[in-house]
Amino acid sequence: MARVLVTRRLTEGGTDPLLAAGHEIVARNDDIPLTPEELESGAAECDAMVCLLTDRIDAAVLSAGHNGKLQVVGTAAVGYDNIDVTTAHQLGITICNTPGVLDDTTADLAFLLILSATRSSTQAEDDLRHGRWTGWGFGTSLARDVHGATLGLVGYGRIARAVARRAAGFDMEVLHTARHATGAPGYVSSLNELLERSDVVSLHVPLSESTHHLIGAAELALMKPTAVLVNTARGPVIDEDALVDALEAGAIYGAGLDVFEGEPTVNPRLLGAPRITLLPHIGSATVETRTRMAQLACQGVCDVLAGKVPPNVVKGP
Ligand code: DGY
Repeated sequence: MARVLVTRRLTEGGTDPLLAAGHEIVARNDDIPLTPEELESGAAECDAMVCLLTDRIDAAVLSAGHNGKLQVVGTAAVGYDNIDVTTAHQLGITICNTPGVLDDTTADLAFLLILSATRSSTQAEDDLRHGRWTGWGFGTSLARDVHGATLGLVGYGRIARAVARRAAGFDMEVLHTARHATGAPGYVSSLNELLERSDVVSLHVPLSESTHHLIGAAELALMKPTAVLVNTARGPVIDEDALVDALEAGAIYGAGLDVFEGEPTVNPRLLGAPRITLLPHIGSATVETRTRMAQLACQGVCDVLAGKVPPNVVKGP
């Protein structure tokens, strides 16, 4: 039996694999993120950790764990930019994540943002809620069409492909770009070309040094003035100030964001920007999916503690 730190509350049933394996769960009875010091002391005292994307698992936490007996960290997320994977591997600590189980749920939300950004529904609803809707008008709340538009996917992993499947139902032409040629229909080798040709650009890349501010002023300037930008990946992939400048200048039509550079703090300029839908990082937030994510992270931890290599091991940073 091992001691497993679960850093924050999971959905009901989420820790079932740990319980079934008979491990001792160390958890607080609330949903307040642990401080860096609490993460370090928890890592030092436990054999394993199940964390969330809000926990910074940096070299200090991992070294504290290494000095104790920490073997594995399972993060209940597919993105692992909050974890110093290089240091973990150097210290022999295994990292597991949750690929595959949140693709459709996140793609659903990306499509919600595609629809709301393209039809400008947040602004229309805001007009209604604030008494600015004075009645049906032929030229009121005119937006852009989703059906028949060209969708440009930046990144072509599982979530992007799930978005592409949804786009087929809207008769969209789908382009994609990726680090390596995919051989799939719609592949374009250059991001710039994709930005120039797309009516909707949806981001599906992990956050890394090479994707930080991948979309900045120069890239936004390539987009059509009628185009929208959607981000369900990670906030820092977009330079938010450049995005607000583009929206204010009418250089692009609209945007839909589920993720933010400094979340949970939201750049106040975004809050005042026109034609934008903002959601609080809820891409995978359904009961079913969050439970699958929690269970997959916990199962990975159990496998490592049992001396097995789980399928959801993170291989590289
Ligand atoms: C993830 O798993 O990386 C998502 O951002 C959570 O919604």
